[in-house]
Amino acid sequence: MPHYPPEPFRIKMVEPIRLIDPEERRAAIRQAGYNLFALRSEDVYIDLLTDSGTGAMSHHQWAAMLQGDEAYAGARSYFHLAEAVKEVFGFKFFLPTHQGRAAENILSALLIKPGQCVPSNMHFDTTDANIRARGGRPTNLVIDAAFDPQNRHPFKGNMDIQKLSAFIEQTGPENIPFGMITITNNAGGGQPVSLSNLRDTAAVYRRYQIPFFIDACRFAENAYFIKMREPGYSAKSTWEIAREIFTLADGATMSAKKDAIVNIGGLLLLNDEALYQRACNELILREGFTTYGGLAGRDLDALATGLYEGLDESYLRYRLGQTAYLAEKLLENGIPIIEPPGGHAVYLDAGRFLPHLPHSQFPGQALAVELYLRGGIRAVEIGSVMFAHPDADTGEMIYPQLELVRLALPRRVYTQSHLDYIVEILVEIAQYRENIQGYQFTYAPELLRHFTARFEPVTG
Ligand code: F0G
Repeated sequence: MPHYPPEPFRIKMVEPIRLIDPEERRAAIRQAGYNLFALRSEDVYIDLLTDSGTGAMSHHQWAAMLQGDEAYAGARSYFHLAEAVKEVFGFKFFLPTHQGRAAENILSALLIKPGQCVPSNMHFDTTDANIRARGGRPTNLVIDAAFDPQNRHPFKGNMDIQKLSAFIEQTGPENIPFGMITITNNAGGGQPVSLSNLRDTAAVYRRYQIPFFIDACRFAENAYFIKMREPGYSAKSTWEIAREIFTLADGATMSAKKDAIVNIGGLLLLNDEALYQRACNELILREGFTTYGGLAGRDLDALATGLYEGLDESYLRYRLGQTAYLAEKLLENGIPIIEPPGGHAVYLDAGRFLPHLPHSQFPGQALAVELYLRGGIRAVEIGSVMFAHPDADTGEMIYPQLELVRLALPRRVYTQSHLDYIVEILVEIAQYRENIQGYQFTYAPELLRHFTARFEPVTG
């Protein structure tokens, strides 16, 4: 078996990409208010902004799309999806949604009362914001190793079980409408959670009768990490591992734009019938009827097919091999990253790369802007722009522990030579890193501000 397995597919359709001139890039980023989200994608050469909805569908998925049934209710495509969902997850009920945050919104709307807390290993930005939007308090209780970029713990996404128990005791289970865990832990580096930790987390929630929901966006990558790293699982299939994961929970939310390799779609999965019925009403109000949930019939078919492909082990071996390859080349060249690399992305440690910039000058944003200026590469800041917020009680600004830049790899899209180019650009940037300037906001909304904020360089 090669160390980095080649693509388990060949390419039969291509989309040209173009590196515009440095002066054009400078003008484009200035016009975008130094926010990478505001760039036109045609001005980007290699787009690592996200692995969400950016994957390449297979010919099976495209074929499935052409057979989509666009009936408003009871479409054939819905039943294809229902069958795949039953096989993969095993929950009693499910609803399609247009993407993951719609499922999070429904769950938050139905269960959270103002002032209540929702613990997790780490909530991702939309989950965090959906909880806050209902007056709730998201709480992150990941193990401390997650904050040490060089600690090669095999399951850095794990929940700190002691912290979780203590938190529940302190808060009171009656103030916790549900508990979560994110697999893999996107906000903490795309790091996996072990099955034994999932089991312990479920046991704690069960002890306090707190419903347990999994944020399952990248469950297949997490399952493959378990197969590779957790004692006792190497002979199990990713299918079996996934089923074992989901038997532990009362439900799940999923953005299908990740491990189901579709361009749009999400799922809300539940076991509780009364909750499911309330969720149906909420879905109909905001998303669409229960058998399409804001998606076209063809999207449901692509998703049904993608769920199987996302769990395919030759694909997962190649997929995690790609991130491992990029990470190894960066480390060989002295570029600081979160180690070991996660499943869907390599996270640059901008705090260590640009130590002259304080949290308040957004080192992650500065590095992301530089990647674009130097190489036409688009990445995303996962640091103070995304997560710094004033304390709910004191108003004092709380900064995240890590200032990161995520290089997310779209599924089945870029090849190893694209990865080599990214490494070359970062090596060039490293040579003049102390000259890179910080940024400050000229505009920032209250929630999910990274999407629409505008910046200017800090001069002087
Ligand atoms: N949960 C996690 C862990 C996520 O990574 C995302 C999306 C969501 C929920 C929300 O799903 O976008 O379909 O509404 N993450 C994307 C990203 C946007 O770039 O990591 P959505």
